[in-house]
Amino acid sequence: MIYLDFAATTPVDARVLNAMLPYFNADYGNPSSIHRHGQKAEAAVDKAREKVAAILHCQPEEILFTSGGTESDNLALRGFAFSKTSSNGVRRILTAKTEHHAISRTAEYLEREHGIPIVWLEVDPYGAVVPQALERGMNESGGLVSLMLANNEIGTINPVEKLSQIARTHGAVVHSDVVQAAAYLDVNVETLGVDMISLGGHKFYGPKGIGALYVRKGMNLVPQISGGGQEFGMRSGTHNVPYIVGFAEALHLASSEREFRCTHVKPLRDRIMGTVLEQVVDSALTGHPDRRMPNHASFVFKDVDGNALLQLLDAAGFACSSGSACKTGNPEPSDVISALGISKDWALGSLRITLGVSTTESDVDRFLHALPGLVEKARGLKRKNHGDPGVN
Ligand SMILES: Cc1ncc(COP(=O)(O)O)c(C=O)c1O
Repeated sequence: MIYLDFAATTPVDARVLNAMLPYFNADYGNPSSIHRHGQKAEAAVDKAREKVAAILHCQPEEILFTSGGTESDNLALRGFAFSKTSSNGVRRILTAKTEHHAISRTAEYLEREHGIPIVWLEVDPYGAVVPQALERGMNESGGLVSLMLANNEIGTINPVEKLSQIARTHGAVVHSDVVQAAAYLDVNVETLGVDMISLGGHKFYGPKGIGALYVRKGMNLVPQISGGGQEFGMRSGTHNVPYIVGFAEALHLASSEREFRCTHVKPLRDRIMGTVLEQVVDSALTGHPDRRMPNHASFVFKDVDGNALLQLLDAAGFACSSGSACKTGNPEPSDVISALGISKDWALGSLRITLGVSTTESDVDRFLHALPGLVEKARGLKRKNHGDPGVN
């Protein structure tokens, strides 16, 4: 089986696992305990926090450990929306339909159930929020702007630096979901000019179920989990020490090996993009051709059922992803693909291929050799299901 779905999740790096192991049994203390077991665990959490802060260019107290990207996104949005004295007095959220559901569905919920006004910013045909769209959306000052750095489905990188500048000029605070981006891009909060960022460990060879939210000092977030007061009172619950240690080590490796990792995946990714567009009839790239994640290639194929194609690929030994979720036999294109304005006959045939540090030339060769035939096979199946004889 050739795994080409590293945006969905990555295996835990052996070095990360080694760093985590002692904290499962040998050093199992609770960081909140006074005794020396507790102190040892607390020291491990403190060290992990410092390590993360150094990479993000912030203070250790500005890092909150969470259960993952989804919780971090929820804490950023709900914590802002439910604050009586929201950081700038305006409880309005500006975001886009291209965001991960952890943001877009949370924004919809806040609007529906709590009357928080949501402004959906337009995206360009590559799925990026262009500065002019934010300028137009910021007709009223203040609020929270939440825009991701790199898109999980189509790989496009938003111009977050520029967008943050605009948001700040209009008195808004800025959150960015960098869950995908952190695997390959620099996530320096000063350069990005953001007030909050969300991260999740399993996208960069760390464990699942652990993440972080950077919260700039002075932000008035309302905690969403109350209890023992851990994480500076912002996220109660006994610290998951081994996972926190693993998260910090994985982020450290992603940062120190960034150049090598990018140099490895990008040429392989470029070959996939070039060859697929050349060899598969009625194929188109989704997302930006250059301003995209270096390990990410995504396409739509006309008159193909994306889920059927995934099954054919799986049977042929390739693990990939699609953007469309099949709901009770009535497939709908994903919100992200729909936001690009692609017609349904193309949008339903989406495919995402994401590479990792272990992907080889020969993996890519085998994939490129198999794909054109499998797309044709999927087209044939769709014609058959629709009773179209598909003559010629
Ligand atoms: C952009 C983005 N945000 C948030 C998430 C959710 O992260 P987690 O799986 O850590 O909850 C994901 C995961 O797919 C993602 O790609």
